[in-house]
Amino acid sequence: MAAPDLETVVSLAKRRGFIYPSAEIYGGFANTYDYGPLGVELKRNIRNAWWKSMVQDRDDVVGLDAALISNPNVWVASGHVANFGDPLVDCKKCNSRFRLDHLEEGDYGPVSRDASGKPLCPNDGGELTEPRQFNLMFKTQVGPVEESSSIAYLPPETAQGIFINFENVLTSMRRKLPLGIAQARTSFRNEITPGRWVFRTLEFDQMEMEYFTLPPKDRENPTEYLAMYDQWVEARRDWYSEVVGVDPGRLRLRPHDAEELSHYSIGTTDVEYLFPWGWGELEGVACRTDFDLTEHGKLSGHPLTYFDEESGQHVVPWVIEPAAGLNRTCAVILLDAYHEELDEKGEKRVVLKFNPAIAPIKVAVLPLSKNARLQPAAQRVYEIVRKRWMSQYDETQSIGRRYRRQDEIGTPLCVTVDFQTVGEEGQPGDESVTIRDRDTQVQVRVPIANLVEALRDRLDPV
Ligand code: GAP
Repeated sequence: MAAPDLETVVSLAKRRGFIYPSAEIYGGFANTYDYGPLGVELKRNIRNAWWKSMVQDRDDVVGLDAALISNPNVWVASGHVANFGDPLVDCKKCNSRFRLDHLEEGDYGPVSRDASGKPLCPNDGGELTEPRQFNLMFKTQVGPVEESSSIAYLPPETAQGIFINFENVLTSMRRKLPLGIAQARTSFRNEITPGRWVFRTLEFDQMEMEYFTLPPKDRENPTEYLAMYDQWVEARRDWYSEVVGVDPGRLRLRPHDAEELSHYSIGTTDVEYLFPWGWGELEGVACRTDFDLTEHGKLSGHPLTYFDEESGQHVVPWVIEPAAGLNRTCAVILLDAYHEELDEKGEKRVVLKFNPAIAPIKVAVLPLSKNARLQPAAQRVYEIVRKRWMSQYDETQSIGRRYRRQDEIGTPLCVTVDFQTVGEEGQPGDESVTIRDRDTQVQVRVPIANLVEALRDRLDPV
């Protein structure tokens, strides 16, 4: 189906408990969102799917959870204090402030230009000031006294926590290269461009992995390293379609131009998704070389090296970094899963076609109606199901409305308890229930005794 418009999905996400604008009772707060009961499950499932692919399923990657607030020198060595800036311009008429790169990319809408080709204010066509550098890191104070020596930074990426723990992980886990260290944590950036929903926010969760390899024999022509980088780029694109269930036709790879590269990278490729407003970055895979380990080694005075038994030398590993954004993945999954269809009666139904592994609620247990004879059996079935999967019990409104509600939140399976289950008045029931499939709407009857197996076959077909 054609991409839904953004407002339709944003409104469903709010109405159904996925994502709310933050602090609405105070008029909101730019570029911040809260995740509701279904949003938190969606995030958890995506993070777990990423962790499974990156850590559990691999012998060469381990996990980490480093402190968010740490020694400020971490951000000096990484280059973020000096380089993590973007050009800002102000309108001389209305004083609104813009990021020049986002203005040029059309994030504020179509841009008019003056006679010399310089962009004008998108609000009122006013002249803009010359660009000034603006650092995206949030500063904070640690300790009871506000002084310059107590400055600390909120992390703008999770990667540095991995670099500074490289030696700890290597020695405590007795590992050899290549070795990946994965981390899924919150990062913070002082974003001033009004975001497109959760695409660009002040705080966001990243899922990053630093893959440490032996340095190339020829620094100028690192062929083995670049071949490994290409493999990671493809593996990461495929993860979105194969594991997360995103339409592969709406994914593409975009290598960065030389002038777009971050200060630490000799090559980066973005995995992009076709958002309603155009292509946008979901994940960046970067060749960070030995930049970070070398810089931390220099500033700390503690070299971060690896003893290569083959050459008998201490070497500084080179790194490939796939860096994904959890919140952008949530947005993509909601946009991509959204479908409008006609049901068997010709009425519109909205369905979120989540992969079962990602769906916030896996099973809904529904008595056919709110009936005293159905309730005990339905509750018994619910107790069986909820122990194994995130489930809901719902007995309000007509069964048709309840199916629609579950379709709209992407629940793959509904289990219905009816009078065949419990028997008509004075008659024994057959102890069977129906399983309704969200996508086909087909219902099959299974004995309660076989229910767990039947659900498992449909939800976790490993
Ligand atoms: N360590 C490398 C790094 O941080 P990045 O391309 O700046 O690279 C990686 O960020 C991913 O983090 C992006 O592809 C995006 O998915 C996510 N991301 C970055 N800034 C974001 C923001 N302000 N809001 C939401 N997600 C963001």
